[in-house]
Amino acid sequence: MGVIELRNIHKEYNNTEIIKGVNISIESGEFVSIVGPSGSGKSTLMYIADGIEQPTSGEVLIQGENINKLKTNELDNKRCSTLGFVFQFFNLVDNLTVRENIILPAVMSSRKKSEINEQLERLVEITGLKNKLNAFPGELSGGQQQRVAIARALINKPEIIFADEPTGNLDSKTGNEIMELLLEINKTEKATVVQVTHNNEMALMGSRVITIKDGLVLEDRYL
Ligand SMILES: Nc1ncnc2c1ncn2[C@@H]1O[C@H](COP(=O)(O)OP(=O)(O)O)[C@@H](O)[C@H]1O
Ligand SMILES: [Mg+2]
Repeated sequence: MGVIELRNIHKEYNNTEIIKGVNISIESGEFVSIVGPSGSGKSTLMYIADGIEQPTSGEVLIQGENINKLKTNELDNKRCSTLGFVFQFFNLVDNLTVRENIILPAVMSSRKKSEINEQLERLVEITGLKNKLNAFPGELSGGQQQRVAIARALINKPEIIFADEPTGNLDSKTGNEIMELLLEINKTEKATVVQVTHNNEMALMGSRVITIKDGLVLEDRYL
């Protein structure tokens, strides 16, 4: 069984079916790119896989566990310890410093201070944010803000990372650097990465491309 199993997922909003029966199985260590037209349901699918949204029907299994059957606090714990989510629009807390933003999920899950600092140091190294730790998000470029968001998603050493168009609001050079960062994390940390992208070149940098159209899997291709 895969580390992520989406089984016959349906999702309705206001009686309109957005996701129409999606089956996807992802093995540990894969780097999957989700592509497809705007409005086809890619973000909705990511939110369902991450447990941010509930499917109308179907099952989401993360590491063999049906996350839709978990109590709210159990799901929160699972999301905090196992899953990292990177949003298209960074979603940083404006009045917290870079350091505070990054360690927020670790503080919320009451991790040991020494452990948090150790991982923070590594991430700061990987993301190149060393001299920005005391800055506020508003003082950073888009690319730097997205690095902070990625570091925040990784502070609890998640086994699975979801990234919804992580380079969508960045220039192509910065976008490529963010892509390299995700690939690096996939390789060195053995994290499973699922990203949504509009960029064909970036989609082809991973190990598998899944095309979503009108709420269904149109194509599922290993590279
Ligand atoms: N919370 C919501 N309420 C109602 N409709 C929604 C909601 N979220 C998404 N949709 C609709 O679902 C469809 C798919 O959206 P989305 O998953 O964001 O697509 P994509 O990420 O592929 O662009 C769109 O038609 C969008 O308007
Ligand atoms: Mg989207």
